[in-house]
Amino acid sequence: MINGAKKAGIIGVGSAVPEKVLTNAYFEQIVDTSDEWIVTRTGIKERRIAAPGEASSDYGMRAGFKALDHAGVSPEELDLIICATVTADRVLPATASIIQDKIGAKNAAAFDLAAGCSGFVYGLAVAAGMIASGIHEKILVIGVDLLSRITDYQDRSTCVLFGDGAGAAVVAPAEDHGLLSFVLGSDGSGAELLKVDAGGSLMPASEETVRERRHFIQMAGQEVFKFAVKIMADASIQALEKCGIAPEDVDLFIPHQANTRIIESAARRLGIPEEKVFVNVHKYGNTSAASIPIAIDEAVREGRLKKGDVMVAVGFGAGLTWAASVIKWGINP
Ligand code: ACO
Repeated sequence: MINGAKKAGIIGVGSAVPEKVLTNAYFEQIVDTSDEWIVTRTGIKERRIAAPGEASSDYGMRAGFKALDHAGVSPEELDLIICATVTADRVLPATASIIQDKIGAKNAAAFDLAAGCSGFVYGLAVAAGMIASGIHEKILVIGVDLLSRITDYQDRSTCVLFGDGAGAAVVAPAEDHGLLSFVLGSDGSGAELLKVDAGGSLMPASEETVRERRHFIQMAGQEVFKFAVKIMADASIQALEKCGIAPEDVDLFIPHQANTRIIESAARRLGIPEEKVFVNVHKYGNTSAASIPIAIDEAVREGRLKKGDVMVAVGFGAGLTWAASVIKWGINP
């Protein structure tokens, strides 16, 4: 914990995913791919896709309400909302402010945080720091992404990977459990490996950028894959060392859900057995900032994360960024 300052812990979690399911069979119809290729190379069987007219704030709101309910905290008690996303409702204002209004958290400050798929764990770290410093006390950390909005459904190498969803956690001072350690990192020299070219200050939207499909995700899959396998294990080991916990004492490993091969390699490097690894990528694909909080929420509901358990959450993503946290779980379903 941060220099013995006030400890923070997660006191409630929730998640929300769209109803619409896209199976691998759908992609067999629109691009040159097969269910067999997608399952073997990624582990993904289906993903959820938001309906037209829905926005990240809608799913952030739903996950947020569930987390508040789980924590027994009212929206008015929140004093900060952090929304980790790369698919904000609009370029401005921040999606966190839209969510603040939608859930009626009228006493909360709000801001967005962009760290790709590492965003939720980054958000937990910011929340822990805010609580340690006494600036804020009851914080809603949301990870939400509607990657379908920036996915090129003509590009078979990326379109099969991504899905939509949101997860949220209420973070508050906690004595007997908590966020034990963090490792956050960035290597901006890898910025070109995973990017959306157009729509920002470098390349504002124009007819040409739309025509050239530059508002969609472009990814150098193999490079990101190699980076992910190494960094997920390294960051987890560093986070465990920081709080003096051995990998064999971890009860549940919750990695960013991008690809089962990445997850399996990272777990192998860490020496964590399969039964202690949480995987739901087959149901949702890669939901970016939402993947870790959705997984935490499902692990709690399925009874795989119980009071007193030690959990490692670790993510990697665009930036390139990475983030790991060791968490002593303090609540029941
Ligand atoms: N169906 C069939 N064939 C395909 C498909 C597809 N959907 N996609 C690619 N291929 C082909 C390629 O064209 C290539 O063919 P070629 O050999 O004739 O050129 C072949 O399959 C192998 O392609 P690779 O890219 O080498 O396949 P790989 O085994 O690396 O798997 C994948 C690709 C799944 C993208 C993998 O690299 C990966 O998971 N990378 C990490 C991606 C990731 O986790 N990104 C998340 C970042 S987080 C964020 O912030 C959003």
